[in-house]
Parts: sequence; C-alpha cells; structure tokens
Amino acid sequence: MSDQPAATAPTYDIFAPDVLQDATPLLNRLRAEAPVYFSPQLQGYILTRYDDITTVLKDAEIQSAQLTGWIDQFPPEAQRQLQPLRSSLILWMGHTNVADHQRVQRVLRRYFTAATVEGLRPRVEAIVKMLLDAVQDKGELDVVQDIAHPLPTHIIGELLGVPAEDRGLFMQWSRDINNLFQMSDLETLLKTQKAVLDVQDYMRPIVEARRREPRNDLTSVLVAAQREGQLISDDELVGNCVMLMFGGHETTAYLIANSVLALMQHPEQFEMLKANPKLLPSAIDEVLRYDGSVDMLMRVTTKPLELVGGKVPANSLLLLMLRAGNRDPDMYTEPNRFDITRRTNVRNLAFGSGPFYCLGSALAQMEGQICLGEMLRRMPNLRPLFDITQPDYRPQPPIRRRLETLRLAF
Ligand code: HEM
Repeated sequence: MSDQPAATAPTYDIFAPDVLQDATPLLNRLRAEAPVYFSPQLQGYILTRYDDITTVLKDAEIQSAQLTGWIDQFPPEAQRQLQPLRSSLILWMGHTNVADHQRVQRVLRRYFTAATVEGLRPRVEAIVKMLLDAVQDKGELDVVQDIAHPLPTHIIGELLGVPAEDRGLFMQWSRDINNLFQMSDLETLLKTQKAVLDVQDYMRPIVEARRREPRNDLTSVLVAAQREGQLISDDELVGNCVMLMFGGHETTAYLIANSVLALMQHPEQFEMLKANPKLLPSAIDEVLRYDGSVDMLMRVTTKPLELVGGKVPANSLLLLMLRAGNRDPDMYTEPNRFDITRRTNVRNLAFGSGPFYCLGSALAQMEGQICLGEMLRRMPNLRPLFDITQPDYRPQPPIRRRLETLRLAF
C-alpha cells in the first residue's frame, strides 16, 4: 500500500464517542464529502456510495478480505496461541480462494433452494409460537433475549441437526464468535477460539450419525458432498457448520430486533403495519435497508480501481459500508426516512451483492416476516419500556453497534 495518503490526525474519527453510538451521520458525511476515503485508523479505504460498493462486490477479481486479518495484527506469541482459530477460519467458505469458495458454494446451493426454505415454514411458525407462548402471561418481554436470539438459533439447530435441549449452548457459542467481526483483544479472541473449537467438537458426532443414517437436513447434505469429494475433509465440513451457525444467527437476530425497534420509534408505521399485514414483506425489506444487521464488508483489491467516488491502489483493504450505501440519496428518495411502503427497484445491500450474495436471504426474510407478523397479531399493544431515543446499544467498533436489550410491554 505504497501510495496511501500520509497518516495524519483523522479528519473523520471512526472511534469518536458519538460515532461509536451511531455511525450513520458520519457515514452520510463521508458519502457527501469523501466517498472513497483512506482511513488512517482502519488502514483501509472506506467506501460509502451505493454504486461504488456494488461495483466492488460484483467484481469477481476482488477478493474477500481474510477473517484472519485481525489475528495477523498480534505479536508472534499471541498468533501462535490463536493458530487453532486461524486453521478453522481459513476453511470457512469465502475466506479461502475463488475456486474453494465456488466449490463450497455449489454444495450449499443444493440445500438453500426455494423449496427447502418453504419446507421450513411450519417449523419457523411452530418455534415463533413456542417462544411467544413462553412470555404470553408475563405481559412484557425482552425482544433481544426472548425472541431475536432464540428463533434463529433454533432454526440453525434444525438445519444442522442439533437437539432442541442443546440449542442454548449454540446461542452462547455464536455470541462469542461474534467477536471475530470487531476489534478484539487477545483474551476475547481466545474465548472466540474456544467457542469455535467447541462447536466443531460438538458437531463431529452428529456428522458421524448422519454418515450412518442420513436425514433430510443440511448436515446430511454436507456429509453426502464429502463422500462425493466436494468437501475435502472433516475439518472443512465442521468448520463450515460453525460458519453457518454464526452466519444464520446474529444477522437474523438483529433483523428481528431492529425491526421491532424501528416500529417502536415510528408509531405511525407500526399502526399502518398492524392495519395491513400484507405490508410485512416490504416492512422487512425496509428494515434491511434502513438498519441492516451487516454494517460493513471487507475486501482486498487485486488491481488499481477507478470508482465514481475516487481511486484506490492495488493491494488495498476496502471497507464497504453497506449501511451508507443503503442510505445513498442517489438511489433512494429521502433515504434517512423509515417507510414501510417504500417502492423502489433498487435492491438494498443488506445481503451483499455479486458472487458472495447471502445464501440464507430467503430464510432470514421468512423468519423475520413470520416472527414480526405473529408478534403484531398477538401483541397489538406492544409499547417500549425504555426511552426510544436512547435504545440499549453496545458499540462494537468499528462502526457496528448491537442492541443488548429491547424491553416492551404488551
Ligand atoms: C438478516 C439476516 C442475514 C443477513 C443480513 C445476511 C447477510 C449476509 C451478507 C452481507 C453476506 C455477504 C458476505 C460477503 O459478501 O462477504 C452473506 C453471506 C452468506 N450468508 Fe447471510 N445473512 C443473513 C442470514 C443468513 C442465514 C439465515 C444464513 C443461513 C442459514 C446465511 C448464510 C450465508 C452464507 C452461507 C453466506 C456466504 C455466501 C457465499 O459466500 O457464497 N445468511 N450474508
């Protein structure tokens, strides 16, 4: 990265306290003033325009940045301690090379068909019902803890063949693994490593059981693919189970939590949705645009790029701000307004774009629609038990923040 601008005091401070609380105003400024901005703090180029982000995501020659990047920043002794984590991460799909990514993607596509996802609908409905039944008599709930995390954990558990009684373990492991996507210290990453290894060890006997007796689940698809030579080892198989567990959990959990929060903050939209549940698909789509769960994706350039917003040299880290692209005024009218009736032909960036486009998007949307629809039907008087101008966010730098709790009465 030789022709980077000199690293001076940051003009746009990614770690300023107000940005840690809410990065959207800074991202909006960046898109208007410096849409391709080299951040000395992140040692990479922040992209904030919708069209620049899609250009990069669709370019098959630009590679996904290795998740192991954070590990590389540590001194040699710490890197040695984190070697088991590194060995697992390099087997996660999309974080290897183009050929490996396509090979694993072909395997997963066998499972993530429209028919399979539709076949999961009765299970999603039953699990939503079970979770809402559990809080029904209390008159209040914490959407994050009671619904948003448990629902996708149960669904991923069904996909992978994890018995219902063990899914609580999965939920905790997945939350520990989440630290991979933020700047973490050694101690935190060692906890992440333990969670990754625990999930892998947990999955090995299930994989063995599916070898003896296949079922109609995703683990059986992975086992069949290994037998046919499309997955190359047990480690690759269980490593990708970890990837799926994580990929399908946190993201969907925050789709649900962010949906409820947005409706609480916009009571007129909440009333409109209650009066017209047919708006559920467009409401979920608007939440994905307005407050999607994945704020940023990372890529590495293999060649110099000339984007609309500016130039980037080869071998640079790119930080693609999906949150900013989804609020681009060149693509959306009044982008900072939450509008569940929004009509647009622009596909928002919440699930990415191009060769890495999310394989679980239909499943996630189905979970979101069923969950929100059932909550509104059973709890029409939902109301916040917190100050809606100050939700209980925990910053996860850079850029991200997560709702810790979302307490409502009904
Ligand atoms: C609201 C929920 C979800 C969001 C916002 C989301 C978002 C994303 C994004 C942005 C990517 C692209 C990553 C990149 O380009 O580097 C992705 C990839 C992926 N997602 Fe999701 N996801 C969600 C739910 C799910 C679910 C439920 C599953 C599966 C159970 C899943 C499985 C995957 C897989 C396997 C990939 C990798 C695709 C590939 O590399 O070919 N996701 N997701």
